[in-house]
Amino acid sequence: MARVKDKIALVTGGSRGIGAESARLLAKEGATVLIVDILNDLGRAVAEEIGPQARYYHLDVSSEADWMAVTESVRQTYGRLDILFNNAGISGFEEDFAQRRQDVEHVSLEDWRKIHAVNVDGVFLGCKHGIPLMKAHGGSIINMSSRSGMVGSAPNVAYCSSKSAVRNLTKSVAMYCAQYGYGIRCNSLHPGAILTSIWEPLLGNSPERRAETLAFLKRGIPLNDMGRPSDVAHSVLYLASDESRYLTGAEIVIDGGIMAGSTAAPPPPDPAD
Ligand SMILES: NC(=O)c1ccc[n+]([C@@H]2O[C@H](COP(=O)([O-])OP(=O)(O)OC[C@H]3O[C@@H](n4cnc5c(N)ncnc54)[C@H](O)[C@@H]3O)[C@@H](O)[C@H]2O)c1
Repeated sequence: MARVKDKIALVTGGSRGIGAESARLLAKEGATVLIVDILNDLGRAVAEEIGPQARYYHLDVSSEADWMAVTESVRQTYGRLDILFNNAGISGFEEDFAQRRQDVEHVSLEDWRKIHAVNVDGVFLGCKHGIPLMKAHGGSIINMSSRSGMVGSAPNVAYCSSKSAVRNLTKSVAMYCAQYGYGIRCNSLHPGAILTSIWEPLLGNSPERRAETLAFLKRGIPLNDMGRPSDVAHSVLYLASDESRYLTGAEIVIDGGIMAGSTAAPPPPDPAD
């Protein structure tokens, strides 16, 4: 199978987690993959592991200067871009945030802006600078939102707000590209709980605490397990390929059933009845 054969793909946040797994799968299915991130050593290692089909560039998604430099380099080297996966994101629980509370009463304006700068500005800048490299021949933009862009969550208000913005930004980009007949589709992904580094600060340090937290999280998931990066990467591949040619402005929810139901549902009948 070569579902994205000869396509040029750029993956933001491709140094680890969902981005790295998506880069591997896109390359396996025939694409040339440009991995961008701020974690340079990890990103270079992923590119090396993939082989000559992959290349790493340093790019902070919140920096317009970085976007301009990398897209110019892509233009000169490849002359085009077919797939753009705007995946890079932060939750506000990373070390940089030094355990500061991120609920609406306590989040600082600085933290609020920092989270939006990466999660929303990063996706906006990707679309703004990616479209010119795609519009002559068409392409697929895949934006990383979250189930947290669809429902609220008390402890991380900025993350939810930013992911909700990505959900609508995606539809507006989809409408714009359709209106101008660019042949560029733009869709959003809404994963639930996928076990990657982004969860590490929340899992606790001791093995006991980690096991308890994971068990707690799984109880809230109808399929009773956290997702894997590959569960998301397969949706990325589908949206990147021409198989999804009639999808634009759409949302794919990958969450083990979290968004399909409600914890306020009636309890199951007693098996003895
Ligand atoms: N894991 C989940 O449960 C889950 C659920 C819903 C959505 N998401 C989203 O999926 C995306 C990938 O997350 P992940 O779970 O693989 O986590 P991750 O932390 O492993 O990966 C995030 C990547 O983004 C990169 N990044 C962060 N800031 C950046 C910046 N300014 N410029 C460039 N790269 C930057 C990181 O270095 C890292 O490589 C994120 O947008 C996240 O919000 C994850």
